[in-house]
Amino acid sequence: MNAAETNLSPAMALLKLRAWAKELPEPLSGLCVHALDNEGYGRAPGGKTRHHAYPGGLAVHTYEVTKRARDFVWGPAKGDLSILHVTTAAGILHDLGKAREYGVTSDESGLTIDRTKEGYLLGHLSMSYGWFVREAAARNLDYDLTVRVAHCILSHHGRREWGSPTEPQTLEAHALHSADMMSMQDAGGQGKK
Ligand SMILES: [Fe+2]
Ligand SMILES: [Fe+2]
Repeated sequence: MNAAETNLSPAMALLKLRAWAKELPEPLSGLCVHALDNEGYGRAPGGKTRHHAYPGGLAVHTYEVTKRARDFVWGPAKGDLSILHVTTAAGILHDLGKAREYGVTSDESGLTIDRTKEGYLLGHLSMSYGWFVREAAARNLDYDLTVRVAHCILSHHGRREWGSPTEPQTLEAHALHSADMMSMQDAGGQGKK
């Protein structure tokens, strides 16, 4: 990605994510717009210390990941648009749980980002997955799309030892995991958060 694409403000990143969400077919579109409009998405940090660790960092990281993952699948998606739809939705939703994993407090020494009780006990992967499957069921999202997006969310850390209960097995999941790693590395982060 060029510099203009990696130096977006959180507000601009959120606008671009919303535009992609609105291009999706229903009910995936409404589900993704709802995620972006709620859950403290726009104010959440993308991490505690390792990458995108500032309010709004989640939106910036999510934009970088979704943009790259969409670019990776662009060729194959010409023959099957569902690949682009799954990749876009999974990009938007993969770290949604971070909005509740971290709490931001401020005092005279500045901002502090800490894990919440849910963050410690559940982790963002489980929270993103739980939110998605509840919304998918409520909106009657079809089985194939539900399983493919859920697989991307659960496998996006890439390896079991990095916190994923299942490892990437589809094109969309490999694209998401690679894009996630690259966004984290571009931001100077290490390890999986
Ligand atoms: Fe993650
Ligand atoms: Fe991520």
